Amino acid sequence: MEISKGKLLIRSVTASDAPLLNKWWNDGKVMEHAGFPLGLNQTLEKTEEEIDSWKGRLSQLCIIEIDGQPVGELSYRIRGEGAAYPGWKICEASFQNQGYGPQIIRLLFEFIFTDERINSIEPIDRIVWDTMLDNKRAQYVYEEKIGARKTDIKEKSWQDQLGNWRDLVYYEISREEFFSAGE
Ligand SMILES: CC(C)(COP(=O)(O)OP(=O)(O)OC[C@H]1O[C@@H](n2cnc3c(N)ncnc32)[C@H](O)[C@@H]1OP(=O)(O)O)[C@@H](O)C(=O)NCCC(=O)NCCS
Repeated sequence: MEISKGKLLIRSVTASDAPLLNKWWNDGKVMEHAGFPLGLNQTLEKTEEEIDSWKGRLSQLCIIEIDGQPVGELSYRIRGEGAAYPGWKICEASFQNQGYGPQIIRLLFEFIFTDERINSIEPIDRIVWDTMLDNKRAQYVYEEKIGARKTDIKEKSWQDQLGNWRDLVYYEISREEFFSAGE
C-alpha cells in the first residue's frame, strides 16, 4: 500500500528497509514503549524474514516518511469480525511532539475504512488498539486529538523484557465516530 498527504507518506515496507528497521527494533529507547527497554536484539536476517512474512497480505507493515525521510513504522492487522488492529511509532525522536502523530493516525484510519481491497474482503467498522497505561502522551493524543473511546484498562496485563508488569489501556473508534469527527 502507499498513501500520502502533504509531507506524509505511508508505504508498505520493502527488503531495502531492513537495516533501518533492524536499527530501530534493536534500540531500547525506541522499543521501551512496546515493552522492550533493551531492544529486540534481532539479527538483520531475522528482520528480513519478518519483512518477507508481511508480503501479499491484507495486513501490512509500513514505513512512515516525512518529507522523504523514514521516521517511523506502523502496522495494521485485519483479523476478521469487522475490526482492524493498528500500531505505530515515530522512531526518530526529533519528529515526536511535532503534531505529526495525529496526522499519521488519521491518514491511516481513513485508508483502513475506505480501501476497496480491504473492505471488499473484510468490511471494517471499527479500529481497535492499545497502549501502556504509563504512556500518558499517547493517551492524551488518542483522547484529545483523535477522539478515540477508552474501552478498558487491564492492569498487570503482561510482563516486559525486564519482568516488570505492564498495564494496558484499550482504545476504539468506529467508522461513524471517525467520519463524524471530521465534519
Ligand atoms: C505517541 C505518538 C504517536 C504521538 O504523536 P506526536 O506527533 O508525538 O504527538 P503530538 O505532537 O501531536 O502531540 C503530543 C501531545 O502530547 C503532549 N505531551 C507530551 N508529553 C506528555 C506527557 N508525558 N503526558 C501528557 N501529554 C504529553 C504534548 O504537549 C502534545 O500536546 P499539545 O500538542 O496539546 O501540546 C508519538 O509520539 C510516538 O510515536 N511516540 C513513540 C512511540 C509510541 O508511544 N507509540 C504509541 C504506542 S501505542
